[in-house]
Amino acid sequence: MSRAHAPGRVNLIGEHTDYTGGLTLPMAVDMGVTCEATPRTDGRVTAESREMPGEHVEADVASVAPGDVRGWAAYVIGTVWALREAGVPVPACDLRISSTVPAGAGLSSSAAVECAVALAVLDLAGATMPAREVARVAKRAENEFVGAPTGSMDQVASMLGEADHLIFFDTGEDTTRTVPFPLRAQGLHLLVIDTHAHHQLVVDEYGERRRALEAATVQLGVPSLRAVTDAAAVEQLADPVLRRRARHVVTENARVLRTIVLLEAGDIAAVGPVLTEGHRSLRDDLEVSCEELDVAVDAACAAGALGARMVGGGFGGSAIALVPTDAVAAVTTAVTAAYAARGWRAPDVHDVTPAQGAHLVA
Ligand code: GLA
Repeated sequence: MSRAHAPGRVNLIGEHTDYTGGLTLPMAVDMGVTCEATPRTDGRVTAESREMPGEHVEADVASVAPGDVRGWAAYVIGTVWALREAGVPVPACDLRISSTVPAGAGLSSSAAVECAVALAVLDLAGATMPAREVARVAKRAENEFVGAPTGSMDQVASMLGEADHLIFFDTGEDTTRTVPFPLRAQGLHLLVIDTHAHHQLVVDEYGERRRALEAATVQLGVPSLRAVTDAAAVEQLADPVLRRRARHVVTENARVLRTIVLLEAGDIAAVGPVLTEGHRSLRDDLEVSCEELDVAVDAACAAGALGARMVGGGFGGSAIALVPTDAVAAVTTAVTAAYAARGWRAPDVHDVTPAQGAHLVA
C-alpha cells in the first residue's frame, strides 16, 4: 500500500494573477488530504472518500477519458488519467481519500486531492517525478478532466509548501522560491475565516475574468499583463470594465513585490495594510468579492487585525486576517458578532501556519 498527504493552501497575496503570467505568494496549510492506494489485478481504478460515505466510483485505467467521471471523484480519477497521459505506467488500484480541508472554503481541497492521489499512485507504480512536474500533472487533471479553467498556483503551493515559508511563484517565468514567514516568532497569527458562503456565480465569473484579462492584454499590446509595471498604462483601455480588471492585476503584481520587500526586511506586521488594499482591489476593480467576505474583512480590521482580504477565486469561501496574538480573541468575536447581527451562520475561524508540502507517509 502507498499513502500520501497533500495540504490545502492559503494565498497571502497575488490573487487572480496566476492565469495572467503574474505573481503569487501562497503557502501550504496544516489541513490536507490523505490518499491510500492499494493494488488490484483487473485493470480498474476505484475511488472512495471518507467524506462521501457509500459512494464508489470505478473506471478502466487504460481507457478512462475526460467526461467519464463527474463530481468529487473526477479529481481522483482525473489525476490517474493525467498521470497515464504523462507516460506513467499507472497500476490498477483502489484509491481511498480523506480530507481535513473544509470543502468550498477556498482552501483548494481540490488541488490537495490531486496532489495526494498523484504521489500515492506514483509510489505504487514505483515511479518518481519532480514536485514541479507533479503539480503540472495535477493542474492538467483539474483543467482537462474536471474542466475547471484554473491557474497553476494551488497545485504548486500544495507540492512545494514548507514550514514557516511562503512560496513566491512567478507564473510567467515559471520559477519559485521560498520566502521566510515566521508568524509566531513575530507574535502574529494568520486567521482563515470560512464564511460558508458559496455563490454559484463562481465558475462562470472566473471564466469571464479570464476572458476580460486576455482581452485587456491584447488591447494593451503586451505579451502579458506582467509586462505592465506602470499602473497608469491601463487607463488607455477604452472599456471601463476592462480597465478595472487590468488595474487589479497590475496593482496586485506590485503588491506581491512590495510584500516580498517587507518580508525580506523581517517586518510581517507591515504587510497588513497591503492585504487590505488587495481586498479593495478584488472588491472594486476585479469585482469578485461578496457581502459575506466584505463583512468579515471590515469586522476583522475594526477589531484589531493589521489587515485582511478575501482569498481564492471569490464569491464566497474564506477571508484571511493578519492578527497580533493579543487581538485574536477580539477579532474572532467581532467577526462572529457581525455575522450574528445579520442572521448569518457563524463563520469557522482557523488559525493556520505554513506547512510542509505533499509527501509520502508511512
Ligand atoms: C482559484 C484558482 C487559482 C487562482 C485563484 C485566484 O483558487 O484555482 O488558480 O486563480 O482562484 O487567485
